Formats: sequence, C-alpha cells, structure tokens
Amino acid sequence: MAARWDRMRESFFSAAVRERALAGVRPGRVAAHIGAGFMTERLLNRGLRVIAIEPSAAMHAQMARKFAGVEGLEIREGTAEALPLPDASVDYAFANMCLHHVEHPPRAIREMARILRPGGVLVVTDLDEHRFEFLRTEHHDRWLGFRREEVARWFREAGLVDVRVECAGEDCCARACSGDAYAWVSIFLASGRKPGPGAGGRDAI
Ligand SMILES: C[S@@+](CC[C@H](N)C(=O)[O-])C[C@H]1O[C@@H](n2cnc3c(N)ncnc32)[C@H](O)[C@@H]1O
Repeated sequence: MAARWDRMRESFFSAAVRERALAGVRPGRVAAHIGAGFMTERLLNRGLRVIAIEPSAAMHAQMARKFAGVEGLEIREGTAEALPLPDASVDYAFANMCLHHVEHPPRAIREMARILRPGGVLVVTDLDEHRFEFLRTEHHDRWLGFRREEVARWFREAGLVDVRVECAGEDCCARACSGDAYAWVSIFLASGRKPGPGAGGRDAI
C-alpha cells in the first residue's frame, strides 16, 4: 500500500488529526516519527529535525523519493517495539495510526517513552475500539482499535505523567473492498510527558 498511502489516507481521515497532534510543537527540536507517513512532512515544515522509524522497505523507498533532497530527515529501519534509537535522545515521539499494526502495543509505548529526553512528549493518535473485522484482513490491522483507559494505563506504566487520552475530533472511515461494510471509527489522541525539566515542551494538546 506504500505507493498509494497518501491517497488512501485522504479518504480515511483528514489532516485535522495531524494538526491536533502537533499543536504547540516547537521548532528546532528533534522528533521521532514511528511508522513514517504524512506527519513526517508536517514536522519538517514546522522546523523540527525528524527521525522516521519504519519497518517496511516499500515505505522507505516511497519516503526516500518523496523527501529526496529535504534536509532534517533521517529514515531508519526498525519497529516500534525495538526502536533503533538510544535512551533519552528525542524531544518528541509521534505515532499516527501505527499502534494498531504493532505486535505488542504496551511494549511499543514503553519504547517510545524510553527514547524521550526528560520533559519530552509522546503523542499517539489511533483508533478507538471497534468491530470492523475487514480492517484486519484488508488493511492488515492487528488490533481492532483500543480502549482509551487501556492506552492511558500503558502510558502511565511507561513512566509518563500528565497523561491524557481524548477525542481527536475526527473519525476514520473506510469502505470494505468485499461486501458492503463501511467502517466509521472515532480517533483518540493520547499524550504524556516524561518527568523532568527538559527541552521537549508542548504548549497545548
Ligand atoms: C496506516 S500506516 C500510517 C502511516 C503514517 N503513520 C501516517 O500517518 O501517514 C501504518 C504504518 O505503520 C507501519 N508499521 C507497521 N508495523 C509497525 C511496527 N511494528 N513498528 C513501526 N511501524 C510499523 C507501516 O509500515 C505503515 O507505514
């Protein structure tokens, strides 16, 4: 799906999700984007240095083409559950529509918290719990969304504070290729901060 992702994304959810997720992000900082894609572009536009972590070779190639010659971006091969980054090395970590693809979501959140500097902020946008099985077979989703209280618990267990999981104000919509099922799922925005004074910071959530 790598080559079609930008077009597909437009039909699934709007850029408003990204704007909510990135509200208050400060330029000049370092952000890890886990599961590369449309948030990478906006982080670069906003003057951050971005390390995009992505397991798919096809997505790598797509990103390399799209961002050829753009400064401030590094694309690394890796998964959310074993991030190829040292402890306390970034100011922000973002994962948009990635958590429902990972094998072990709480481990992925622990990893994202691990790479944050003190004061750094993790923001995850993903699907609320739903029952649309065709997203497993047609979109390769591993998880049919998440309960918000579960996500909040994973954030806290990863040592994050000021944890909030709220409505992103947008829905994700997708029509099944086979049959007439139509998924319409609300999106949550989860955020938390690594304790300590630091360079991260986020003016608003
Ligand atoms: C639905 S796409 C979202 C892409 C991007 N985050 C965006 O918002 O445009 C899911 C992405 O997560 C990546 N992905 C799948 N499993 C992953 C894992 N275990 N760790 C990190 N990324 C993963 C996929 O390769 C794909 O690029």
